[in-house]
Amino acid sequence: MKRALITGITGQDGAYLSRLLVDKGYQVHGIVRRVALEDPDHRLWRLKPLLKKIKLHAGSLESYASLFNIVQKVKPDECYHLAAQSFVSYSFEDEFSTINTNINGTLYILSAIKHKAPNCKFYFAGSSEMFGNVREIPQKESTPFYPRSPYGISKVAGFELTRNYRESYKLFACNGILFNHESPMRGYEFVTRKITLGAARIKAGLAKELKLGNLDAKRDWGFAGDFVEAMYLMLQQEKPDDYVVSTGETHTVKQFAELAFSCAGLDWKKYIKQDKELFRPAEVNLLIGDSSKAKRVLGWKPKVRFKELVKMMMDEDMRRLKIL
Ligand code: NAP
Ligand code: GDD
Repeated sequence: MKRALITGITGQDGAYLSRLLVDKGYQVHGIVRRVALEDPDHRLWRLKPLLKKIKLHAGSLESYASLFNIVQKVKPDECYHLAAQSFVSYSFEDEFSTINTNINGTLYILSAIKHKAPNCKFYFAGSSEMFGNVREIPQKESTPFYPRSPYGISKVAGFELTRNYRESYKLFACNGILFNHESPMRGYEFVTRKITLGAARIKAGLAKELKLGNLDAKRDWGFAGDFVEAMYLMLQQEKPDDYVVSTGETHTVKQFAELAFSCAGLDWKKYIKQDKELFRPAEVNLLIGDSSKAKRVLGWKPKVRFKELVKMMMDEDMRRLKIL
């Protein structure tokens, strides 16, 4: 039985990836913050159906010793490093903790693997945010990075650390450069879930309006369930490499909102208010990925397209509020 270790297992991608690996017969281990074990109902909600099938270990991205001990104990065959302060907007408010957690956390886990599980295959959760002020359209593996946020900068550092461990210490270490991916398990602070939950609450009579920031930003939005398959496939190849994972379609925040509200039979223009406070000090205006390398080498392509994704998220939020 292969052993997989997932950092950030409590997040959106952690939940989809755990399901995928459990279904493939892996023994799945996850690293969680200690408080998660004290308050499992709240903090482990995404993992509820899987809790009997996975093993959780308390550890912290800020503590090398805790990560070292877990890697030594689990001796994983594959490690998926997903944990990060992942909210771009917050990274402008607290750049110090974002940089510390995201860069040091990646360095610590890579070092622990080098020392205690050197044959373990490693996946780093890189991001299209690294392209930032894009130098090329669409963005592919060779597109230069130009990050626009402390979060983006921390991911460029994690990407380079991963590449360096691959080249210097011969670790099987891969970078995924994943474009935005969403689902009914997306965190509430990200714009897609904020919109679908907001529209469902308005429909249910629980809210009267929804405040958003920049409606013109364009994102290449895919489905998280599809994207975790690409992570898995990267670690099944003969050689480690870096891959863009995206749908190749881009839409504005406004288009997402228009479609989501229409799924609830609402006219978005009546309910969405723009709030200057929600604009970012530096914006990433356009993201659109070219994932032809992932298609060619991994045989990966997205199954869920934009309209289906928006409807899936809207339906689930309306079901939760018992209006569907
Ligand atoms: P998410 O839902 O925000 O999950 C983040 C995970 O990281 C959570 O399990 C969280 O644990 C954990 N974490 C955060 N700070 C931590 C710390 N100091 N110590 C230990 N654990 C910590 O993110 P996601 O959407 O699943 O994304 C997974 C990874 O992919 C992230 O690295 C993200 O930056 C990257 N990524 C995401 C996307 C996307 O569109 N979703 C695209 C590209 C890259 P708690 O539950 O305890 O907070
Ligand atoms: N969160 C949020 N809230 N975003 C808003 C809002 C709002 O009220 N109004 C407009 N937006 C715009 C943001 O300015 C941004 O241009 C876009 O919506 C998407 O914002 P998010 O959903 O917060 O995602 P993100 O693109 O910044 O970051 C996500 O994708 C990255 C990959 O490109 C995160 O998942 C990152 O962790 C990930 O790396």
